[in-house]
This record gives sequence, structure tokens and C-alpha cells, in this order.
Amino acid sequence: MPSTPLIAPSILSADFGRLAEAVSQVEAAGADWIHIDVMDGHFVPNLTVGPPIVEAVRKITRLPLDVHLMMTNPDTFIGEFADAGADYLTVHVEACSHLHRTLQSIKERSVKAGVTLNPATSVSTLEEVIHEVDLILVMSVSPGFGGQTFIPSCLEKISRIRHSLNAGTSPGLLEVDGGVNLQNAGSIIKAGADVLVSGSAIFGSENFSTTIQQMRAAGQTINV
Ligand code: DX5
Ligand code: ZN
Repeated sequence: MPSTPLIAPSILSADFGRLAEAVSQVEAAGADWIHIDVMDGHFVPNLTVGPPIVEAVRKITRLPLDVHLMMTNPDTFIGEFADAGADYLTVHVEACSHLHRTLQSIKERSVKAGVTLNPATSVSTLEEVIHEVDLILVMSVSPGFGGQTFIPSCLEKISRIRHSLNAGTSPGLLEVDGGVNLQNAGSIIKAGADVLVSGSAIFGSENFSTTIQQMRAAGQTINV
């Protein structure tokens, strides 16, 4: 029986002109974390936000801030994001030549350390660090934009990582990001996800509370 997942709305799909309101609304609607997408225009073909926005969001919510760094040189900014109030800092394995050093640098600042994989990156790249991280993020779209379609082969990848986590002593949570919606959330939870990131499916819905509740409960219903 799958456990109940945490729901992390991605503010990438919020109205940035009313960001504080959007964060308060999803917090009131029952969100567990706030997911913040940092894009540098190099690692991904889009630009979003930096430490000042993380700091601003930190001031208006008690929820953990889950900061996803889609950056070529995350090491340069780890201190700033930690000081801004990130609870989780997640780096891409494709962007880190010295992944172990990067993860140590995050942990030294008492921030939880996450690693993430693009859809085309093999699970084997995690082998040496999987039991030392607090979060494993499976990208289920090519990162850079909200509103893309979930890549179905990622379900099998999620299952494989779940088995590796269960087989070891890892404290790591398994998070899935990209194209998560009410139609596929049940399958993703059953594959083993602990945390669902969702941007457009939550912020594009009529009622954030209903959508978050239905997404969280999706693993308890028959597969669609
Ligand atoms: C994509 C980002 C995601 C994005 C998800 O590069 O990492 O967090 O905001 O948005 P949806 O849920 O719309 O795919
Ligand atoms: Zn993200």
C-alpha cells in the first residue's frame, strides 16, 4: 500500500506579480512544501529567480522551501541560497563535476541535500551518493519549463530508485517533478514517490485545496 505523499506546488506556474498571495493560497490549501525553480539560462533555456526571491518567500511561509537548482555552477551560489532560507537544495548530477564536494557544501550549512536526474540520465549516476542524500529528484520532463507532458518511461525509473532506497539505509525521500497531474499522480505514487512537485496542475486548477487533496489521495485509488 503506497504511503501518502507530500505535495510541493511549484511557484513557476504562479503569477509572479502576486507571488506572496499565491504562496499563502497554496499553504492554506494544504501544501506540504513550496518548490522553487532556479534556472540560469545556461543549464536550461530559461531564466527565473535567485536568492532574493527565496529570501522573500522565506518571510511569508512556514513551509519548507524546496529549491531546485537548474544551474551550471551551483557551488557558487550554495551559500547565498542557504542564507536566503532554503530547507532543501537540489543539484543536477549533470551539472556537478565534483558531486560529493557539492553535497558536502550543502550539508555543512545545515541544509538538506538533494540530487536530481534529467529524464535521459541513468540511475547509475546516483550509485555512489544515493545513501548519503536527503532527497532524490526524478525529472519527468526535460527541465526548463512548466506545463510539459510527463514522460511515461520515468515511472519505471522511479520504481528502480525506490527499490534501491528500500534496499539500503538511505534516509532519502524520492521526489518527482514535471507533468504531474491528477491523471498520473496515482501511478507515480504507486511507483514509489514520496513527494510530488506540481506546477500547472495546481496553479491552473479552480480550487487549489481540492486539487492538492485529490493528488495526495491518488495513490489510494485504482490506477488510471
Ligand atoms: C521544470 C520545473 C518544474 C516545473 C513543473 O523544469 O523543474 O518544477 O515547474 O511544472 P509542471 O507541474 O507544470 O510540469
Ligand atoms: Zn522543479
